[in-house]
Amino acid sequence: MNFILSETEKLLQKTAREFADNHLRPEVIERDKNAEFPAEQIKMMGDLGFMGMMISEKYGGSGMDTVSYCIALEEIAKADASSAVIMSVNNSLVCQLIEKHGTEEQKQNFLSKLASGKWLGAFSLSEPQSGSDASNMRTFAKKEKDHYIINGTKNWVTNGISSDVVLVMCLTEKNVGYNGITTFIIEKGTKGFSTGKKEDKLGIRGSDTCELYFDNCKVSEKNRLGEEGNGFKIALSTLDGGRIGIATQALGIAKESLDRSVSYANEREQFGKKIGKFGAIKSKISKMAINIDAARLLIYRAAKMKDLGLSFKKEAAMAKSFASKIAMEAATECVQIFGGYGYVRETGVERLIRDAKITQIYEGTSEIQELVIAREILGGNI
Ligand code: CAA
Repeated sequence: MNFILSETEKLLQKTAREFADNHLRPEVIERDKNAEFPAEQIKMMGDLGFMGMMISEKYGGSGMDTVSYCIALEEIAKADASSAVIMSVNNSLVCQLIEKHGTEEQKQNFLSKLASGKWLGAFSLSEPQSGSDASNMRTFAKKEKDHYIINGTKNWVTNGISSDVVLVMCLTEKNVGYNGITTFIIEKGTKGFSTGKKEDKLGIRGSDTCELYFDNCKVSEKNRLGEEGNGFKIALSTLDGGRIGIATQALGIAKESLDRSVSYANEREQFGKKIGKFGAIKSKISKMAINIDAARLLIYRAAKMKDLGLSFKKEAAMAKSFASKIAMEAATECVQIFGGYGYVRETGVERLIRDAKITQIYEGTSEIQELVIAREILGGNI
């Protein structure tokens, strides 16, 4: 076990930090205010190899491990949590799913474009009536000869508007529960497939989220990802990896909260001294620092287990549950330390609270993470 980053990992961290400081941080308040997608920045992230970090170089990826992905993603999330979720979804939920379950033809046609950052992908599991109870979906894909006809509505799709392809989970057989769910790769522009309005969100406002509509949408069976009926398990196992990404997004938000708090505590004076000299502020800063280190260790453990091919479902859920909780706490304490200055948009710290909140909700709420952890510990389907 090694707790120290290697020289290669340090270089990756430096590259990601410099990119984030130079290209994400400068306009982040404006993008948040205007709910503007960072299109240009995401293209640059593709050029840096950040959009398919764990994908083999053969398919346009960077061939790195999950720990390296987390190192880079934390730096992106520190500067801009919206860019971090765009990166996380493309890497963890889209590219990894296709690399693991796609045919060679699907990898050539889709993965190489997605992993190199030429295209952007989205992952669509939820529906208006099925969020945590994800298998209770209604969108139906009816098999006809060599294609499927898809009808239904999906929602909460991150990258839904800006993406070129979406991985969509649909029912292909009714009354058999999760064994009737199948995954499809659906390209934008396919007849019968349209997107809804961009959701007006509390946080991660730079990323786009929308509904997807399928109205007699014809999709070739060549676009079916994996076997019929295997789509739910594919989605859940992919989400295990996705949860490491969201935990890392939360970690970045928490670290930014700490760094901003430390700078302010060393600069702001009250009662004739820097506020960092007061015990109340020292206590907040030290609690944040302990939590951040603990979250990072949980994340690296899950990432390392994934890289070693071990089961990491419980560890990923632990990392996400803890990191999202401490991100919310750190962001709230950061605003508290800034006082009135933290409550206005221009200092850029109120955004940290708004961005942190979603990490307790998407890719499985904190309550679902606890359910996953408890099931793994206690056994059985409690
Ligand atoms: N990997 C592989 N297979 C898995 C699995 C995993 N992690 N977890 C469960 N399975 C298998 C089970 O073994 C079972 O198969 P068998 O019967 O053959 O053993 C099958 O899948 C069904 O599992 P469960 O009985 O546990 O299913 P459940 O209906 O009780 O639900 C749940 C489990 C944990 C609640 C799950 O529905 C869940 O995680 N819900 C949250 C949904 C979620 O995370 N949504 C995120 C949306 S995507 C998103 O947010 C992306 C974004 O935009 C940022």
